[in-house]
Amino acid sequence: MRISLRLIVSLVVAVSVVACFFAYVQVGQEKERHSDELDRRSRLLAESLQETIGPLIEKGPSGDLERLVEKYGNRERLAGVAVYDARESPLAVTASLSAALPTPLPMVGEAMRGDVDVGRFETFGGREMHVYAMPLRIGESIAGCLLIFHDATFIRIQLSRIWRQTFQRLLVQMVLIAIVTLLIVRWSIAGPIARMADWMKNLRAGDVGEPFSAPKEDLFSPIAKEASRFALHLTIAKQAAEDEARLRQEASTLWTPDRLREHVRSKLQGSPLCVVSNREPYMHIRRGRKVECIVPAGGLVTALEPVLRSCSGTWIAHGSGDADWEGLDEKNRIKVPPDDPLYTLKRVALTKEEENGYYYGFANEGLWPLCHIAHTRPVFRAEDWAYYQKANRKFAAAVLEELKDVASPCVLIQDYHFALLPRMIKDERPDARIALFWHIPWTNPEAFGICPWQRELLYGMLGADLIGYHTQFHCNNFLDTVDRALESRIDWERFAVKKEGHTTLVKPFPISVAFPETFQDTAGADLVDRDALLKEHGIRAKYLGIGVERMDYTKGVLERFRAIERFLEKNPAYQGEFVFVQIGAPSRTHIKRYQDFLSEVESEADRINWRFPPKDYKPIVFLKKHHSHQEILPFYKAADLCMVTSLHDGMNLVAKEFVAARDDQNGALILSRFTGASRELRDALIVNPYDIEQMAESIRYALEMDPEERSARMGRMRETVREHNVYRWAGNLVEELTKIRIDERPAPAGVGTN
Ligand code: G6P
Repeated sequence: MRISLRLIVSLVVAVSVVACFFAYVQVGQEKERHSDELDRRSRLLAESLQETIGPLIEKGPSGDLERLVEKYGNRERLAGVAVYDARESPLAVTASLSAALPTPLPMVGEAMRGDVDVGRFETFGGREMHVYAMPLRIGESIAGCLLIFHDATFIRIQLSRIWRQTFQRLLVQMVLIAIVTLLIVRWSIAGPIARMADWMKNLRAGDVGEPFSAPKEDLFSPIAKEASRFALHLTIAKQAAEDEARLRQEASTLWTPDRLREHVRSKLQGSPLCVVSNREPYMHIRRGRKVECIVPAGGLVTALEPVLRSCSGTWIAHGSGDADWEGLDEKNRIKVPPDDPLYTLKRVALTKEEENGYYYGFANEGLWPLCHIAHTRPVFRAEDWAYYQKANRKFAAAVLEELKDVASPCVLIQDYHFALLPRMIKDERPDARIALFWHIPWTNPEAFGICPWQRELLYGMLGADLIGYHTQFHCNNFLDTVDRALESRIDWERFAVKKEGHTTLVKPFPISVAFPETFQDTAGADLVDRDALLKEHGIRAKYLGIGVERMDYTKGVLERFRAIERFLEKNPAYQGEFVFVQIGAPSRTHIKRYQDFLSEVESEADRINWRFPPKDYKPIVFLKKHHSHQEILPFYKAADLCMVTSLHDGMNLVAKEFVAARDDQNGALILSRFTGASRELRDALIVNPYDIEQMAESIRYALEMDPEERSARMGRMRETVREHNVYRWAGNLVEELTKIRIDERPAPAGVGTN
């Protein structure tokens, strides 16, 4: 209430001061206007009387003069007229005035001595009057003075009315101000504060339902935003504490973000984690005049982002967005995620030529098809190889800059873009623990042997202390390849390679997703309205299938479409009933093979859609654009089945994301046996993507599966993903890396301790 009172008093004082000031000015002006008007009227009258009175003065007091002054007394506002002689003695004065006028009258002498007209307000006998004195001349000399008296009381009355009206208006304004202030304070301040306090009280008591959102009042939106975030952190912390307590009680092995954070902190003894990948977790791109921040598609980012969120540290990656270079510090770093900064992203700049040669060329036209058995020929160009080496050196320089003041740092290098990086870093920083995680398959030695620079690549990789793959099979392939191509010693018992006195361990670490998902990801999850979702995309369907891909020829999308076609051919009852939504993010579009693949997918979808009646039925809906995780989640939740039919895939996290999203324990997963995920998700319907008949049959089976069986399968898969989540993956990787004994070579000069 005190704030309302303060507000009201301040407003009332301010408004009163302004109103009084303007009333004062108005009164002054009004008075001046009346005075001028009376002066003017008096002057006109005096001038018209002057000629008549002039000759009469010489005669002294006379009846004529008396009649004249009486004639002009009490007319409208004219109170009277007086005539004085040169000695300032009255000759004739209107009778009603004569008693009130003092003798001598100072104005008479003033006018005659100055030989000027004098006009002003005077009070005679308690009456306020305007007096105008005009010297009367005969020839050259002043013979007397004529005075015109006007009653001025009407002016005071008018001026008082102005003041009165001002005060009346002021009074009304004060009442209005008080009412409006009280209402505003109540509706816009006290009300929201009370609601927010209530919400916080409930939050403290653990009663706030999901999703968390504080009252959204304009004035309070910054506080509300912070409070929501605070609430979110509180809930996550609470959840984590509960999980921990449950874990301790059950002696369970569930990994959580907090457990990983603690684990990494203790294993690295406080030294920060440094992750390197080509793809960055947040990409700033310009859309018209606005800059948008997107999370690029791909399993690597999906998996690693929650790890960095939990452990913080630095993620070094190529800055590939056209607005990536704004808002960085002098070392090209920025805190991310943008709305809740938890770790550092350091961007490395590449020229167009470097990006072309290293990323599009050597990495994605050479190594990518080399490692995937998907029947696309790798292309190896010497100039791409030169750029690959150059880009690796550039990243090495960026990593070394970050590690400058860190003793015994820990570096996690990601994927096939950086085969040379481990050696480059190790040569400069032998005290660094280096892991290289290869996210894609490793093929057999014969297939790998076609790469003209296989020895250089292997040598570069063996600079790492630990090399990780998703499966033991890929580890074996790698060790076989090294055995064939390099002079080295393979320890098949420990799965290690010894080269030039340095040992590299090679182990499987099946990557995964953040499960249980963080609260943000599942916010509003229960609210998925399948009908609304389908309507939004103009889909009419009884049964819904979903596929989510980066548009890559390794993903078996064409085979999948053909399986859908075959399924509809064999099961006509599903025509018009079953719709498959293919979410496809265009990828690596500067490579011709990818462009061709994208148009092949589009025309294949068109061909199949054209085949089946009714006319407005489209069995395949191809949503060709980048979708955020939040946009994909409702499809995962609404689908009857999800198809992951890669021709070859290191792990495939779409399969695990689908499972993680199905908290209703429903939905069937059709999964290619050529994915790493098929080793873990044994309750999926495992298919050979080249076998169209088998895939068509598995679609039918998925749709007609007994609900109990479907739920049991999903339940078991969820348990697997829950236990083998990405926090466990990162925990195991760091654990293994820190267990390794680092070769005793002196660290270069200038390396301090952290
Ligand atoms: C695969 C690779 C990742 C890559 C992702 C997306 O998952 O293993 O290293 O980031 O595809 O591909 P892109 O070329 O867009 O980074």
